[in-house]
Amino acid sequence: MISTPHRVFVTGATGFVGLSVIHALRAHGAVVRCLVRHGSEQDLRGLEAIERVEGDVRNAHGLADAIAGCDVVIHLVGIIREHRSRSVTFEAVHHQATLNVLNAAATVGVRRFLHMSALGTRPGARSRYHRTKWAAEEKVRESPLAWTIFRPSIIYGRGDGFVTMLAGMVHRGVVPLIGDGHQRVQPIPVEQVAEAFASAIDLPATVKHTFDVGGPDTITMTALVDLIRAVTGKRRVLKIHVPVRFLRMVAQLFQPFPSFPITPDQLLMLEANNTCDPAAFFTTFGLTPVALRAGLARMLD
Ligand SMILES: NC(=O)c1ccc[n+]([C@@H]2O[C@H](COP(=O)([O-])OP(=O)(O)OC[C@H]3O[C@@H](n4cnc5c(N)ncnc54)[C@H](OP(=O)(O)O)[C@@H]3O)[C@@H](O)[C@H]2O)c1
Repeated sequence: MISTPHRVFVTGATGFVGLSVIHALRAHGAVVRCLVRHGSEQDLRGLEAIERVEGDVRNAHGLADAIAGCDVVIHLVGIIREHRSRSVTFEAVHHQATLNVLNAAATVGVRRFLHMSALGTRPGARSRYHRTKWAAEEKVRESPLAWTIFRPSIIYGRGDGFVTMLAGMVHRGVVPLIGDGHQRVQPIPVEQVAEAFASAIDLPATVKHTFDVGGPDTITMTALVDLIRAVTGKRRVLKIHVPVRFLRMVAQLFQPFPSFPITPDQLLMLEANNTCDPAAFFTTFGLTPVALRAGLARMLD
């Protein structure tokens, strides 16, 4: 008997992770419908076979109609920078919007809800990014839907924000580091995150589970810069250790300018280690950990 393909509604589909998730879903034979903000349509160029619905997760109106007919929702929307003048706040985009999507999904009888959170999310976290991600997780856990939550450390791959930015600095030969640069991260390739989302749909054991997601290597920011330098064949890079207090002041001052690479909230997150035990993630989804050096070499080739 041929089973009916899943119809999957994806929010955040035009983003870095979203595009990979679409590819993974299609490889699994799913029919994909994406929520696309007005003006972001061009980000889905080359993906003509997927359905698109225009909308904004901050606006509950019309979301249920947009999701109707889908049996799975993958909720990826998230922001790293607030734009208060446009009401783009962590509270609105992470917490309230998740509630909007959950309510709409429940209204139209969605079977599975896969939610993107972030490693470091916890009650009372220092950054508002993490606190609002926690509030969103709480809403997911309270919902009657069959949910799964993913909490990744840094996700890397072509088109990402973080490693691509570091690689650009390495290429230019100067990299500012936060304080001593000893903060540890555990980058994971985007393809593996996407594959886990696609497989989770049909893995009942993942229902009501939260997965910490990270690669096999935990690495300090200083060592990450050195690794990128080695992988890209750059001979010398000047690492400038910027005192945290000074960076805080500068990030605060330049907060209104989106071209400034770091916000005060991001700084709070990057000051702390962002690592986990990903064993359950790799075992449950049958994924083979990819050594960071190999993953970066493939990405930055
Ligand atoms: N990248 C990482 O290292 C990392 C690590 C841990 C967790 N995460 C989480 O993973 C998720 C995806 O991250 P990403 O790196 O792919 O981010 P991204 O590239 O910035 O993509 C964000 C996506 O959300 C959409 N979006 C933002 N506000 C929206 C709104 N109000 N209504 C509808 N869509 C909206 C964006 O649409 P537009 O194209 O219209 O802007 C885009 O599709 C986020 O929840 C993030 O917190 C990422």
